[in-house]
Amino acid sequence: SQPRRMNDDLITAHVGETGGLMRALNALQQHDGYIDAALVPKLAKAFNITKAEVKGVISFYDDFTKAPKGKHVIRICQAEACQAVGSRGLTAAAIEKLGIGLGETTPDGRVTVEAVYCLGLCASGPAAMVDGQLKGRVSAHLFDAYAEEGEA
Ligand code: FES
Repeated sequence: SQPRRMNDDLITAHVGETGGLMRALNALQQHDGYIDAALVPKLAKAFNITKAEVKGVISFYDDFTKAPKGKHVIRICQAEACQAVGSRGLTAAAIEKLGIGLGETTPDGRVTVEAVYCLGLCASGPAAMVDGQLKGRVSAHLFDAYAEEGEA
């Protein structure tokens, strides 16, 4: 298929380059919005490393994701200052409302909830980033709109 051929090009374009694997992974992440696990054997072969090594690199870097993200991405701070003002409970409330786990996306593809470690808003925690926008003193109500089908 066409997308598959495109992915092959994104991989082969970086073979033999310094840091070629990282460049190929970045290209795939940007192009597809995630790194398809089906491409791991191809990546291993192209860069002459094991599949386990490819998987290790993908899991090590937070920028690489293994599934497409939702239309809305909610990242809730889990670092110390925010934890002290209830970010854990807030996170639990959010994923319970949405019926997913942390790091997961709702089955309809609308919302992804992720952990983040300090957003620089420590004095106004709990802090979150919603679709790239910083939010301080977040309450569980923030998630109501996202939890209701078709609203967000
Ligand atoms: Fe949450 Fe810094 S600890 S923003």
